[in-house]
Amino acid sequence: MHAELACFEERCRARFPIDEVIYNCPRCGGLLEAVYDGPPQPAAELRALWRARRTSNAPLDQSGVWRFREFIPFLPDYRGVVTLREGDTPLLDAPRAAQYGGLDRLVFKHQGYNPTGSFKDNGMTCGAAQAVRLGMRRVACVSTGNTSASMAAYASAAGLQAIVFIPHGNIAYGKLAQALEYGARTLQVEANFDEILALVRSLAESLGIYLLNSINPFRIEGQKTIMVEMMEQRDWRAPDWVVLPGGNLGNTAAFGKALREMLRMGLIDRSPRLAVIQAEGSAPFYELMRTPDRSRLPRVEHPQTLATAIKIGDPVSWPKALHEVAVSGGVVEKVSEQEIADAKAVIGRCGIGCEPASAATLAGIRKLAAAGVMRGDADVVAVLTGNVLKDPDYIYRYHTGELEGPGGERIAPTFGNRPLVVPNDRRRIAELLGS
Ligand code: F0G
Repeated sequence: MHAELACFEERCRARFPIDEVIYNCPRCGGLLEAVYDGPPQPAAELRALWRARRTSNAPLDQSGVWRFREFIPFLPDYRGVVTLREGDTPLLDAPRAAQYGGLDRLVFKHQGYNPTGSFKDNGMTCGAAQAVRLGMRRVACVSTGNTSASMAAYASAAGLQAIVFIPHGNIAYGKLAQALEYGARTLQVEANFDEILALVRSLAESLGIYLLNSINPFRIEGQKTIMVEMMEQRDWRAPDWVVLPGGNLGNTAAFGKALREMLRMGLIDRSPRLAVIQAEGSAPFYELMRTPDRSRLPRVEHPQTLATAIKIGDPVSWPKALHEVAVSGGVVEKVSEQEIADAKAVIGRCGIGCEPASAATLAGIRKLAAAGVMRGDADVVAVLTGNVLKDPDYIYRYHTGELEGPGGERIAPTFGNRPLVVPNDRRRIAELLGS
């Protein structure tokens, strides 16, 4: 298979060698994507091969990313690949969440089961492999937390030096802790995500550091496997909807690309519709869908949300995401802080749990079902992007009624579960539990 980088812009489509260190089209500035020329293997053969690898003990086959390597054939060989056994995440039935959302049935694809607790690992194993292939020694990213945790882990595992830039005071503690523990040089910058991204891009170029934000097309390749794995787990029956939170919109770009490629390869016979959910105070993509002129993103100067993972006002992958939502017949919805918080608690009550950004999915489903956009009997998979333990502070505050929105407004603990302080007194505790 011959792999190249191609400009995503329809009017350009310039092509570049797969091993050129570029993040945007040198001709027109458009986003780049990996493209492959050559006859694809027959779908039946690929399905059998990928299924058979599930019983293999080879590290590459045990990865839920590299098991599907024929779907992401950008490397000449696999010597530089580091896997931490990313992917292989479950589909979980959640009847309570379904009922809350207004659906007969709802299944979560839980990316929080990944080695560093988020979907970023699917992409990062690919980004790190490309860094090794290019002979880069240092990798960098700006992050709302999960990208930095993931990059720190994969960089260290691959013997690369990780430099992470994070918006000071604006990421969940669990994520910051991971970056430190995995050994990344961690810089907390007093600026927001969008401002830091511009800074890091120019620094990366002048210092020869490889950029591993989701603008990196190889990250997107890895994240495609989330959709492939989901389809395989469903015996290649496409759902009606795939619901996901939208921040920098890399995942939306990746899922759409995966769906189009699976269709083309005959792995699925129809595409699900994508439903992208944003937080109300940080919803430029939602606004874009409502403006007649979709050639410019109405970026949000000061994005606000407690779901810090998706606190992004100027998402880089919006042109790709726009295309994918349109092609799939998808929708974009926005939800409030209260809606996210309550949906998150409901997901917790299913015994599943997730971080705030992930819960935007269920909040969005509830809104879309109530509006009649999503039918009650629809076949829906929502992607939970991050682990419940990423942001314990949010959880504690919600359940004790102390959670406040970005503007200081109180979030009601609709499904609150306050811990009780009791004396060391057997009789009184028995009384309490008996009541
Ligand atoms: N959910 C979680 C838990 C995330 O960490 C992110 C993004 C998203 C959803 C949104 O995904 O950007 O592909 O639309 N986190 C990035 C980070 C930005 O730096 O960790 P997206």
